[in-house]
Amino acid sequence: MSLDRRRFLAAALAAPALGRWEIQEEPPAGTGASRQDEKKPVLAPRVARFREMGFGMFLHWGLYSQLGAGEWAMHFRKMEPAGYMKLMGSFRAEGFSGREIARVARRAGMRYATLTSRHHDGFSLYDTRGLSPLDVTHTPAKRDLVADFVEGCRAEGVVPMLYCTTLDWSDSRFEKDWKAYQRYLRDSVELLCTRYGPIGGFWFDGNWSRKDVDWELDALYGLIRRHQPEALIINNTGIEAGGTLVHPEIDSVTFERGRPEPIEGVSPDKVVAGEMCHTFNFHWGIATRDFNYLSPAHVIEELCQCRRVGANLLMNVGPDASGRIPDYERAALARVGDWIALHGGAEGPIYRGRPAAARGEGDDFVLDLGERSFAFITGLTRTADSRAHGEARGAGPRVFRDLRPFAAARWLDDGEALKLEREGGRTTLHATAYPYGTNTVVRVAELRPA
Ligand code: GLC
Repeated sequence: MSLDRRRFLAAALAAPALGRWEIQEEPPAGTGASRQDEKKPVLAPRVARFREMGFGMFLHWGLYSQLGAGEWAMHFRKMEPAGYMKLMGSFRAEGFSGREIARVARRAGMRYATLTSRHHDGFSLYDTRGLSPLDVTHTPAKRDLVADFVEGCRAEGVVPMLYCTTLDWSDSRFEKDWKAYQRYLRDSVELLCTRYGPIGGFWFDGNWSRKDVDWELDALYGLIRRHQPEALIINNTGIEAGGTLVHPEIDSVTFERGRPEPIEGVSPDKVVAGEMCHTFNFHWGIATRDFNYLSPAHVIEELCQCRRVGANLLMNVGPDASGRIPDYERAALARVGDWIALHGGAEGPIYRGRPAAARGEGDDFVLDLGERSFAFITGLTRTADSRAHGEARGAGPRVFRDLRPFAAARWLDDGEALKLEREGGRTTLHATAYPYGTNTVVRVAELRPA
């Protein structure tokens, strides 16, 4: 990470004045419960729905994709806006299809997709209706790509969400006229709220760039609540401030490329979700010289470790210059989709399972789903576990504590029963090795009550 970037990140908590918290509902009359007893964090339906989405696709795509050197290319190459924006002349978007993107996401088991409607370079993929000349209507692409994305997602049953940068390298108002810049930002978000039908959520990024200003979050978030009350509000606090709640309207905290932490209690008043965003190599926008790709196995592990703490995984792909998702990411994600299908698919623990009170050892963990529990067993073979450091733990006894009562344990992948021993609050599951032909990276045992 550059020094520059560190400085930006250090400012992550610059968000000002917290506004009003969600109002607690009164306890139902006649229950005898005092207000105090009933004071539980409120779970908004939009947050509950988001938690069950589990897995989403992040898309970083814009003018920079033509340079193939990541979404920060303008900044690191010290390009002036006038020079950089020449890329608008060759922005054709001939390979961009919201429908196709949504198909890739759905095939991977992803239930939502978050597209960069505008990134830090200041270029918008949508028709800003005169708010800025730096938008897609001034390129040969000549079509509103946010509209295409949103419609394509809806057609495939994938929830569309929009990433919005809050910092801008091209708009001089960002440095010179803060009030006017704030108005521009809000007008832009208002367009996104009012022109494209229901949007699943707004994902803000960039408040870490200035700590000397008032980000006027009450006004920005207030307009989303007004126009799109069901939309999630997310604000990326940056790599070093993952899991921080900067405003009471935030519905989900972010963990950028980190290991997500449990988020219970981050707000005493409302249930806040968690989302970890990660990318296939070290860049978000396509970088043709970055060969440092994650494997499907690694993505499966990341997904499981997110779900372990009730967080979602937002996995990034950087479409190529034309807007097409590259072959590697497409293929790798399909393999992740196969893993999910083998482990209960849409009705399985990956989406609907919640972190259990029961505990495993090391990376092993448990999710509860209704009356069933699911024990996730990691590191069965050396080659399975790309995240784990050190030796694989292999087949054999795995200890869990405080499991809820259950009658039998079976592997989800082949239905084989696991031998059990119980002693007080301690249960040992005897994890068998993979049968020949199988290596699911993380093996899951279903624990069913009689
Ligand atoms: C960082 C980067 C940005 C990227 C984001 C994704 O904040 O500045 O380029 O969009 O992470 O989480």
